Amino acid sequence: MANALVPGSFDPVTNGHMDIIRRASGLFDTVHVLVASNNAKNTLFTAEERVEMLRRLCADMNDVVVNSFEGLLVNYAQQNNITVIVKGLRFVSDFEYELQMALANHRLNSAVETVFLPTGVEYSDLSSSIVKEIARLGGAVEGLVPDIVQQRLVAKFAARTR
Ligand code: COA
Repeated sequence: MANALVPGSFDPVTNGHMDIIRRASGLFDTVHVLVASNNAKNTLFTAEERVEMLRRLCADMNDVVVNSFEGLLVNYAQQNNITVIVKGLRFVSDFEYELQMALANHRLNSAVETVFLPTGVEYSDLSSSIVKEIARLGGAVEGLVPDIVQQRLVAKFAARTR
């Protein structure tokens, strides 16, 4: 077996992400869930907040480690003896971008392979942005995100409107 990395912005983590993390945890020796930065995005939650939520949600999975990292995924992978990057695929449209990222990461470090897991059908319409938009407008995000994330979203948007 091998050690794997599940990277993302996780702003915030959704039930779709948790499904991928849980399934990866059954497939690999150790799974590092990595809060990484995507320069194209302004985040609602700080990296510390995202790590803290993920650590609480992954506490029951002994083989899962949660960290944040600034820099190239392949550097984190090399430093932590990781040879597999796991990404969830929702739509065919995800594939083009994900393939590009997988090829870039492989070019940077050919010892690291990317493995795609199909996102569970019940989560395939989910994204962190959609969840944030629903919560921002006062809609119910129950069932889309874990309970603690739901509470944090409500608190975040309540604080913003005060
Ligand atoms: N369930 C629900 N939503 C999912 C999902 C799933 N299984 N899988 C992906 N998504 C959503 C995410 O929430 C995200 O939503 P958003 O755009 O509304 O925030 C969207 O799909 C895209 O996800 P993803 O492709 O994982 O992007 P990301 O922004 O979360 O993460 C990084 C991108 C951080 C992994 C990427 O920028 C990165 O690798 N950065 C480090 C630098 C680096 O090494 N770059 C590569 C070399 S160029």
